[in-house]
Amino acid sequence: MDYKKYIAQKIKVDEVSEEDIASAITLPPDFRMGDYALPCFRFAKVLRKSPVQIADDLAKGISTDDVISEITPVNGYLNFRINKLGLAKETLDKISAEGEKYGSSDVGGGRVVCIDYSSVNIAKPFHIGHLSTTVLGSALYKIYNFLGYKAVGINHLGDYGTQFGKLISAYKHWGDKKTVEEGGIHAVNDLYVRFNECADEEMEREAREYFRLIESGDKEANDLFEWFKSLTLAYVDKIYKRLDVRFDSYAGERFYTDKMQPVIDELNEKGLLKESNGAKIVDLEEFGMPPCLILRSDGASLYATRDIAAAVYRKKTYDFYKCLYVVAYQQNLHFKQFFKVLELMGKDWAKDLVHVAYGMVSLEDGAMSTRKGKVVWLEDVISKCVEKAYAIVCEKNPDLENKEEIAEKVGIGAVIFGALYNNKIKDITFSYDKVLSFEGETSVYVQYTCARANSVLEKAGAKTFELPDNFVVSDEEFEVVRTLSSFPETVREAAEKYEPCYIARYAVELAQKFNKFYFDCKILTAEGNAKQFRLALTCATLRTLKNALSLLGIGVPEKM
Ligand code: ARG
Repeated sequence: MDYKKYIAQKIKVDEVSEEDIASAITLPPDFRMGDYALPCFRFAKVLRKSPVQIADDLAKGISTDDVISEITPVNGYLNFRINKLGLAKETLDKISAEGEKYGSSDVGGGRVVCIDYSSVNIAKPFHIGHLSTTVLGSALYKIYNFLGYKAVGINHLGDYGTQFGKLISAYKHWGDKKTVEEGGIHAVNDLYVRFNECADEEMEREAREYFRLIESGDKEANDLFEWFKSLTLAYVDKIYKRLDVRFDSYAGERFYTDKMQPVIDELNEKGLLKESNGAKIVDLEEFGMPPCLILRSDGASLYATRDIAAAVYRKKTYDFYKCLYVVAYQQNLHFKQFFKVLELMGKDWAKDLVHVAYGMVSLEDGAMSTRKGKVVWLEDVISKCVEKAYAIVCEKNPDLENKEEIAEKVGIGAVIFGALYNNKIKDITFSYDKVLSFEGETSVYVQYTCARANSVLEKAGAKTFELPDNFVVSDEEFEVVRTLSSFPETVREAAEKYEPCYIARYAVELAQKFNKFYFDCKILTAEGNAKQFRLALTCATLRTLKNALSLLGIGVPEKM
């Protein structure tokens, strides 16, 4: 049942619709105040009365029933208490019926949401700076699909530009097939770094020539480029698999080579293109922004040019409802500029483009992600986390079988959760000890809670449970029930605000409440209906925690 709706239809406020009332209803932070609350200050203007007066008057006009057991006005809020037994039955029945689908919905109605994330650069390091875009984008991808949208995951590869000319030149001078084949992306990156450190003018000239050869379709240059590209993709693919990340399209910047001219023509026709020192720009001064560069004076296109062409292509190909770009806030201006250019071109869908910006990740020891020579490869962060997880598992529970498999889930979970737990715009400092703590607000804590629930269910000898007709619901149990019941809403809000951290926080909160219940109420030694209800509650919690973690790409080991 949608309790907000149910409550809303009992309340009548002149000039305010039932939907508006429903959307104003909140969950009080402390549930001793009530299960739902209606803040009345928002009606003060329409009703010309104080919030306190409004709450008091409204309370007099409505009565309790089977669903709502208590209505109390407190300081301008109208608090509602739900019939505990009713909510417990309804929630647990729903979870047992929906299983893996609990929390999903069809609000999306099949509408397409394009999500541009990870977007790696060919032949360059896949470093810790790519962690957030990869795991945030992937979580949004799963969340939108779960809500009945059709998510299209796009890896907008950085595979265009003069650096590939440089790479070929470096390879010709210093590289050989065997070294590159064995060293993979690291060997390729070494060549690139060496070029930047040692190239003379002659090599720079040569690099420009190789880039031109790639552009003009020269076979040798393109074969080499494709080779570097396939090495990079094979490398990142292994990491994507471990992080449970997938894409539907790898159309990168190069893909738009032949799709830019029509856009440039259109800009011209619409009188938006201006000359400036030989370059072509779209003037954005009146919007308080520097001009958006479309063509350099030598005729070369830019990052923004390709992004404009890509947006037009995506609209045409996918007819998206929204197109998200999960990219660091350093690129704020770039997105604002090219969104504006599309708007000026008269694309009414420009309003559906969203830059989902996030903050920086740095490591505790101060290593930065991009500074030359001090690159922290994401693969190394993952390996280190999994190694540490292995050591922890061995210490905690040396008799466990498949410790490696468990360590992989725990270590990977810690990397993902560490990047997702905070609001995305915050800069974060990644600490191995913090993300791997059993006590903190971590995936390890949530996974450990799942293992605990699993062990209770195993001892009880069953995986599913019938709910008895009648049982008593204590405060600790009700806290768990109420939290369980708000999962679908949490998933919806995470999608609306592009904040997977809502789901991460939710998982920690549910785990905390479950643990309180676990320590305060005996489960296995309880009797009759109480035991049956507690086992059902344990089962439902385990299911919901698994659903929440799986939306973030995190697996749950049976034992830890
Ligand atoms: N490859 C770019 C970078 O590493 C990110 C691309 C983001 N996507 C886009 N459509 N601009 O900075």
